[in-house]
Amino acid sequence: MEKLQIAIEKARASRLAQRGVTSHEDSAPEAPVVTLAEQVGAWAALPEMTLDPKVLEKNRVISNLQGQHAAYYDILRTRLRDEAKRRGIRRIAITSTRPQAGKSTTLANVSLAFARMPHYRTMVFDFDLRRPSLARILGQTPEHNMGEVLRGEVRFEDHILRYGANVAYGLNSVAVPNSSELLQSEQTHDFLNAVEEIYQPDLMLFDMPPFLAADDTQGFLGFIDGVLLIVEAEKTTRHQLDAVEQKLSELTTVVGVVLNKCPFPDESDAGSYGYGGYGYGY
Ligand SMILES: Nc1ncnc2c1ncn2[C@@H]1O[C@H](COP(=O)(O)OP(=O)(O)OP(=O)(O)O)[C@@H](O)[C@H]1O
Ligand SMILES: [Mg+2]
Repeated sequence: MEKLQIAIEKARASRLAQRGVTSHEDSAPEAPVVTLAEQVGAWAALPEMTLDPKVLEKNRVISNLQGQHAAYYDILRTRLRDEAKRRGIRRIAITSTRPQAGKSTTLANVSLAFARMPHYRTMVFDFDLRRPSLARILGQTPEHNMGEVLRGEVRFEDHILRYGANVAYGLNSVAVPNSSELLQSEQTHDFLNAVEEIYQPDLMLFDMPPFLAADDTQGFLGFIDGVLLIVEAEKTTRHQLDAVEQKLSELTTVVGVVLNKCPFPDESDAGSYGYGGYGYGY
């Protein structure tokens, strides 16, 4: 049995043992000991993703380029890294108050900013299984989807794509049925624990649906450490923001709020980021 599969079985057995369903010793397969060389090997074995700069540009992904606009995503990247380190957390979901706030675009940009940090490993999962879009934004057409991987029908290493040495993507070309139930299932919990054990990412980022659009995001919050909330400038009212933020903070840690698509006319203003840019709070 391959290491990830053993790790999933181990996570499952340990969960059942905690509940007293089985004895841990009886049911858990031997823990895979993953050496540093094996971690590097596991990352290297993931198929490599190539990006088309024209597709990226069309989809407002600019973080692969040098320049001032990319620098704003670098700032967000570094704040996320520092915040994760400061709080001792690793799994962060990206959600929004309303649809179309720019979650997937922000995540695509930030992930490419992380790709420029070679010693920091980031995993990005499109868990907006109802309306996946990260694949399209990054110009990818994966044959399989994360639903199949989570259900154990497709092997992780046959689906996950690696960009450079240190960023991996779990994408979807099509919507996944029963997304809410799948995301909050114990299968998904075991999967995340096993992936962490084998690949040892520094950070895991999850693209999610808008918080109020369905219960997918709320159901998944139990498995993650914090959320980054994306707010579309001039579309979200203060009241909507306060209501969503309060509800989220009752359920998890809000690691930051990004004010996206800010229509600041003067880019020389230190507090404003033009090009429909964003501000970051917290
Ligand atoms: N900073 C920005 N400035 C201008 N337009 C942006 C910005 N970020 C995203 N957009 C545009 O807003 C639209 C929605 O972006 P995106 O798909 O990333 O949002 P989303 O929150 O993931 O949407 P959904 O709720 O459907 O998942 C896209 O057309 C995208 O190009
Ligand atoms: Mg999206």
